[in-house]
Amino acid sequence: MFKDKLIVVGITGSIAAYKAVELVSNLRKKGADVHCVMTDSAQEFLTPLTLRTLSQNPVITAMFAEPKRWNVEHVGLAEAADLVMVVPASANIIGKVCHGIADDFLTTMIMATKAPVLFAPAMNVQMYLNPIVQKNIAVLKEQGYHFVGPGSGNLACGTEGQGRLIELSVILARAEELLVKEKPLLGKKVLVTAGPTREFLDPVRFLTNRSSGRMGYAVAKQAYLLGADVVLISGPTEIQPFPGVQCIRIETAQEMYEAVLAQWEDCQVIIKAAAVADYRPQSRNPEKMKKQSGDLQLVLSRNPDILAELGKKKKSQILVGFAAETENVLASAAEKAMRKNLDFIVANDVTREGAGFALDTNIVSFVFPNGEIRELEIMSKDDVAKAILKEVIKKLQMRSDGDG
Ligand code: PMT
Repeated sequence: MFKDKLIVVGITGSIAAYKAVELVSNLRKKGADVHCVMTDSAQEFLTPLTLRTLSQNPVITAMFAEPKRWNVEHVGLAEAADLVMVVPASANIIGKVCHGIADDFLTTMIMATKAPVLFAPAMNVQMYLNPIVQKNIAVLKEQGYHFVGPGSGNLACGTEGQGRLIELSVILARAEELLVKEKPLLGKKVLVTAGPTREFLDPVRFLTNRSSGRMGYAVAKQAYLLGADVVLISGPTEIQPFPGVQCIRIETAQEMYEAVLAQWEDCQVIIKAAAVADYRPQSRNPEKMKKQSGDLQLVLSRNPDILAELGKKKKSQILVGFAAETENVLASAAEKAMRKNLDFIVANDVTREGAGFALDTNIVSFVFPNGEIRELEIMSKDDVAKAILKEVIKKLQMRSDGDG
């Protein structure tokens, strides 16, 4: 999302200015063209040299300094920006922008830009709660400016409360959201499942699989960025959902079944990327099982097939499944798509290098019930998610046109 985007980072006078260093470095690593603008007060906390080195661009510190590159200075930067982020944003910058004061480079540039502007406030709790600051924030929000945070906790001034710069991951997530201009899934509710399930033998042992949840989490994130209201039902994973995605955590297939059935009805789209165990131990021992001499035989019972159940129940929903296969990939996927009454299935041959479990990439084919197959190149799971959602949006459009 950040690749080749021109992002202006405005840094103002706050002890949290040092956190802008990490932000700039992060944006740069994600491929953004980052231009930093520092107010006079910001330069008391941080040197322009640090930001110049990390952003690999000149840092603007004064309104009337000799321009380093004419075309990106002043109004040029305002016009070229895809996004302006003010991190950290002091009470002073919020007040000045709110009242139309343009007396330095940052305020002038904000006044002149048509790009979205995101403020991440950081200040003392009393300053933040001051009715003047609160009113300024409310006015700016009304005018279409965006805010993220602040967070709560220990503040640099020794007090505790609201006013900390919110975590970088939350700021980056909000920035990503603002960079996606088209929101074709606005007003749609999308249900995504992700991760493995755990089928318990006793309180400490379970049967599971290698799913990390990355594929499903990528689908949830991209659906959210496209404007959807997203519910993610997830098995145990180490990853965090994208901020704004509602996440319901479950462990067993039965719990996933119950959570999905409680949510699916008012969803327009359901995408099942989870690797659900087909079987569970017939009984779950209440205590840790003791070792015995000789072998142990397990009897397994069938779990409900959640996707097949939804296929039977679905009304106008778009239902997308995944198929993790190791042989006869396309034929098996086509059989599942038909049997489970899906709109299409995303097949991945999990034996291929770069595909399947616990990787950042995948190699998938879309298999449609009419026999059509679309094979995709190896790509990041985020890009696979975007391709799936593009297909979903096409189908929603066809449905609303009364054509499918
Ligand atoms: O999580 P990652 O590490 O990123 O890995 C991604 C992935 C390989 C898990 C993902 O790309 C994938 O293929 N997910 C589906 C894995 C799977 O369980 O496939 P399946 O062929 O067993 O099931 C077919 C479909 O039915 C799936 O949509 C599954 O969610 C659903 N199912 C299966 C069994 C069951 N009891 N209930 C179900 O709903």
